[in-house]
Amino acid sequence: MAEFSGIRSQMYKECLKEFPSARNEDFEVMNKYLAPKDNEIVLEIGAGSGFFSEKLSEKVKKLIVSDPSKEQLEEVKKLGKKNIEVRDEGADKLTLGKEIADAIWSFGAMHHCFDKTKAFENFARVLKKNGRLVMADVWHDSKLAKHFDTQVAKFCVTGHEVAFWSDEFAESLCFLTGFEKPKIYDLKINWKFKSKEDIGTFLYKIHAMTKTNPEECLRGAEEILGIEKKGDLYCLNWPMKVMISKKK
Ligand SMILES: C[S@@+](CC[C@H](N)C(=O)[O-])C[C@H]1O[C@@H](n2cnc3c(N)ncnc32)[C@H](O)[C@@H]1O
Repeated sequence: MAEFSGIRSQMYKECLKEFPSARNEDFEVMNKYLAPKDNEIVLEIGAGSGFFSEKLSEKVKKLIVSDPSKEQLEEVKKLGKKNIEVRDEGADKLTLGKEIADAIWSFGAMHHCFDKTKAFENFARVLKKNGRLVMADVWHDSKLAKHFDTQVAKFCVTGHEVAFWSDEFAESLCFLTGFEKPKIYDLKINWKFKSKEDIGTFLYKIHAMTKTNPEECLRGAEEILGIEKKGDLYCLNWPMKVMISKKK
């Protein structure tokens, strides 16, 4: 997959290493909505360079980490975790067999998948009966979608042509592929930084916005997403949604 390779993947990894605690609230989202258990087999979709994978692998019996980008997954392989199996497959191309996973977890990845019907069919095959599907992603009518379409699409080294979600489409896919009617919740995530400048640098790197500079990334974020100071930290609003459903 061309999209998350080369400089795009390199800058993504670099960014997460430079700002290791900026996304701490994302772990809270995982713990609250996925609520992983130590006897479970979990499949992670679009895991990227493994932001969640290490922590998640410590909470479950086995973690299958998938992403279409081999380069992103190199970081997960480096963890050397015995209970992690790595698969370089997109959600729409999953070759895993029937009823092997207790739960599926995905964060910030499925808007990159253009065959969401195939992906959900795969999820239904791979999950055990009553298995959970927990997907946090970008919804089309949100400030986050506006940020991606205005800033990232223009300035990212690879462009950013994606397909964001609507509640209705998520519900339709669940209906069509054998899932219960999903519950969908707003996530009022704050990504946290020591300075405003750090926000510009973080966005510049995480989205590989090499066609502009960190100053423009910060300006756009202030205008579109909003930044608030709480205590000593600058909080960047990151408004996603999470969809939770169960295989029937
Ligand atoms: C923004 S990154 C998110 C990575 C990780 N979940 C995180 O939170 O840091 C998006 C990831 O989606 C992956 N991706 C692209 N197409 C995909 C597809 N069809 N199915 C699953 N993941 C995909 C990319 O390779 C990339 O690693």
